[in-house]
Amino acid sequence: MTEMFRLENVWHRYSEGETVERVALKDVTLSIKQGEFVAVIGHNGSGKSTLAKHLNALLLPTEGCVLVKGWDTRDAKHLWDIRQTAGMVFQNPDNQIVATAVEEDVAFGPENLGIPAAEIRRRVDEALKIVGMTEYRRAAPHLLSGGQKQRIAIAGVLAMQPEAMILDEPTAMLDPSGRREVMETVLRLNRQEGITIVYITHFMEEAVQAGRVVVMDGGQKVLDGVPREVFTQVAELRRLGLDVPQVTELAQHLARRGIKLQPGILTVEEMEAELCRYVSQM
Ligand SMILES: Nc1ncnc2c1ncn2[C@@H]1O[C@H](COP(=O)(O)OP(=O)(O)OP(=O)(O)O)[C@@H](O)[C@H]1O
Ligand SMILES: [Mg+2]
Repeated sequence: MTEMFRLENVWHRYSEGETVERVALKDVTLSIKQGEFVAVIGHNGSGKSTLAKHLNALLLPTEGCVLVKGWDTRDAKHLWDIRQTAGMVFQNPDNQIVATAVEEDVAFGPENLGIPAAEIRRRVDEALKIVGMTEYRRAAPHLLSGGQKQRIAIAGVLAMQPEAMILDEPTAMLDPSGRREVMETVLRLNRQEGITIVYITHFMEEAVQAGRVVVMDGGQKVLDGVPREVFTQVAELRRLGLDVPQVTELAQHLARRGIKLQPGILTVEEMEAELCRYVSQM
């Protein structure tokens, strides 16, 4: 598979005044292939957003290099190729809405690219369909729910036809149903449209649905593997100030009471299946 993102020994230092420097990324090496769905987790200030902003040249490395489809992000002549390849979705949907009607909002990005009107209309229709918001095309964005607004923001990025999407805590401000809507939309983008996803989240129940989980701590990449590998390291995750999925924790509590289930339970469905199996053997 071809490589979408490559970080090689990336350091990032924010300068604060003349003398103070804050090291936000420390020697991060990471490769993300086309079509992957990678969740990035880590406690506050661990460097997740800084990492995300390196993936579409919003920030440049202080040391090391970042390649997007082989283009070095420091190479100014590929800036627009990079920005078009890797679209960004942020936490606050209200800050991402620019127009007074949904379809105008989704059209905003391609209009700025100078794309012909007929093609823009086609892209807007398609993007709204993919995020399941076609019936709201003429609605006023500010009247929508948080989850719907975030799906509109995603449609706006989709209309630019990116190959990858980077989402920095897109569900942080949403209620549980909004979070589910957004997560389902992003999973669909990955599975049906083949879009590479880098998904930053504080919700472990979201991270378990990714194909791969990267854990950041103090600006370093400390764990990197499939969800089952990462989330079964309960003690290590706790040490890093992170939660494990509730059902994983429940399995641990049950084990202490002598109810030994298969290790590595991550989802409610897996717990259900495993409890049924356990009970049927009693
Ligand atoms: N513009 C900035 N100037 C100076 N320091 C910054 C700046 N942005 C972030 N930092 C610092 O860099 C470190 C990493 O921040 P970053 O925002 O990447 O973390 P994060 O993992 O996204 O945190 P959160 O979970 O709170 O979003 C932190 O110590 C933060 O205080
Ligand atoms: Mg952040």
